[in-house]
Amino acid sequence: MKIAFFDTKPYDKPAFEKYGAEHGVKFKYFETKLNEDTVELAQGYDGVCVFVNDTVNAAVIDRLVEMGVNIIALRCAGFNNVDMKHAFGKVHVMRVPAYSPYAVAEHTMAMLLTSIRRIHKAYIRTRDFNFSLAGLTGFDLHGKTVGVIGTGRIGRVFIDICRGFGMKVLAYDKFPAEGLDNGDTIRYVSTDELFEKSDIISLHCPLTEDTYHIIDESSLAKCRQGVVILNTSRGALVDAEALLAGIKSRKVGAACLDVYEEESDFFFEDYSGHIMEDDTLARLISMPNVIVSSHQAFLTVEALENIAETTVKNLVDFSTTQHCANELCYRCGNTVDCKDGKCF
Ligand code: NAI
Repeated sequence: MKIAFFDTKPYDKPAFEKYGAEHGVKFKYFETKLNEDTVELAQGYDGVCVFVNDTVNAAVIDRLVEMGVNIIALRCAGFNNVDMKHAFGKVHVMRVPAYSPYAVAEHTMAMLLTSIRRIHKAYIRTRDFNFSLAGLTGFDLHGKTVGVIGTGRIGRVFIDICRGFGMKVLAYDKFPAEGLDNGDTIRYVSTDELFEKSDIISLHCPLTEDTYHIIDESSLAKCRQGVVILNTSRGALVDAEALLAGIKSRKVGAACLDVYEEESDFFFEDYSGHIMEDDTLARLISMPNVIVSSHQAFLTVEALENIAETTVKNLVDFSTTQHCANELCYRCGNTVDCKDGKCF
């Protein structure tokens, strides 16, 4: 089986080479992202393997189908970059639903602690032998209320971590998890109550029409003064302009962003020698109370191994049985795994 692998980074290859060699899947690695201009590279392959910032729109899907490429293997969980409606009936889309919820949840807590304990500032100071503590006052997490939007795999691990810190949890999910609400330290509430009562808000839901800009001017207006916003899910969950306005007005006390609405233009690449074209991103990064990492939350040894292992298994399962438990299906609702793997 031959697969064209797009948006390759050096850290992708070792695990994919290992699992690919074990199961007879040959990957051809392209550094470029998949989009309408690069789709021709997939000519002659059985499938493409893509990541979060590859573009799998209607035009790309149509060209893949014309070339006889009928598998799109996402090596990530989110699939907002795939036009699932258009893909239905034409091409099989599979993903890695869970590779390490711990990686993302732990990164979220790492960003929160870095931000509120000013570790990013202290690190730079002490490297310059500046041992002053002025301006480094933080606050305890113990006893604070965290609002968690999306209580799936990552959201629930993050809740466990927060509970370890002695925090109270207000949760919101379109499909609440059974048995999570204990009526006391973890409660499901409406989004309005979550916005009004949370000291910290963390986003762990997928990007859908419902969740697009779930943090915007109107939701921020409902939030507590000094609210901390954490987004390690998808950039467009947050209206970046509204967040910037909230930071300037001091309504938002801090923001930790592993994802950004326009990240596909910049993230994963070295732009250190360039003029930053995106004024909003530049302004956010310039703020002392904003921490940005470039979609790094998934990047642990364990997650990379799991991603490669599951992607190869998806491909092998599909090629040998025409069934893949991780196939995504528009017919099944666009947000859930295909139940029978044989929707078309
Ligand atoms: P999951 O599918 O286990 O959980 C998502 C939860 O969101 C589910 O409980 C679902 O019911 C809920 N949800 C769906 N629609 C909603 C809505 N309209 N409002 C509120 N909740 C809603 O997914 P998982 O594994 O926990 O991942 C969560 C998100 O994290 C992914 O969608 C992805 O965007 C992001 N992610 C980010 C990574 C990074 O490196 N920064 C890596 C992996 C995932």
